Amino acid sequence: MAGVVASFCMSLDGFVARPDDSVGPLFDWYTAGDVEVPMVGYPITFRVSPSSADYLRSHLDAVRHSAFVCGRRVFEYTHGWGGSPPGGGAAFVVTHRPPPSDWPAAHLAPFTFVSSVSEAVELAKAAGDGTVGVSGPSIAQQCLNLGLLDEVRIDLVPVFLGEGVRYFAHLGGSNASLERVEVVLGSGVTHLLYRVRYPDS
Ligand SMILES: NC(=O)c1ccc[n+]([C@@H]2O[C@H](COP(=O)([O-])OP(=O)(O)OC[C@H]3O[C@@H](n4cnc5c(N)ncnc54)[C@H](OP(=O)(O)O)[C@@H]3O)[C@@H](O)[C@H]2O)c1
Repeated sequence: MAGVVASFCMSLDGFVARPDDSVGPLFDWYTAGDVEVPMVGYPITFRVSPSSADYLRSHLDAVRHSAFVCGRRVFEYTHGWGGSPPGGGAAFVVTHRPPPSDWPAAHLAPFTFVSSVSEAVELAKAAGDGTVGVSGPSIAQQCLNLGLLDEVRIDLVPVFLGEGVRYFAHLGGSNASLERVEVVLGSGVTHLLYRVRYPDS
């Protein structure tokens, strides 16, 4: 795997969060199994089924030396992961605003606040091994519309949320297509990996 990768847990009706931004049952599969998989860069350990463990490990290995791009809401919702963003490398927060004046963990990991998605992706590619993890549906959609997104990973959870935050709600004029790379059946989740193809690529 390489390039710019968006990865989300999604309900069967296409939501990545409830209206209050909580993920509810979408993350249950992370703790529903017996196989331990430590997260890279952030001090948590997942407990998942054997097939999910294999899938997760391959993804985490691929992003081990990557950088990370997210939007301001994800940054604030996670409190900047306490200064340890997923992947453990540099993190770029897309925002119109300056960093919080009391941002306490800035010394723990290199966080950079930038005002453009394309600049964030460019800086993130240069800061890591070229692989960039994207978090936040808004940033993922903007990357897709800019022709910057290379892979879409969906952990499809068989629940209906009915309302909330959609993964791809604002596709603009994107005419990208998706090429299936991998489908893995887990317990309470189906992992889907697609390569993004643009008309001129
Ligand atoms: N299910 C999952 O796996 C999963 C994973 C991650 C997140 N989530 C969910 O995703 C939601 C948050 O993501 P989101 O997409 O709604 O918000 P987001 O992208 O994290 O934040 C949106 C904010 O980022 C800034 N921003 C976005 N695009 C910009 C641009 N082009 N230029 C400058 N600033 C820009 C703006 O902040 P300012 O204007 O305020 O600066 C904007 O209000 C939450 O509900 C969270 O629970 C789910």
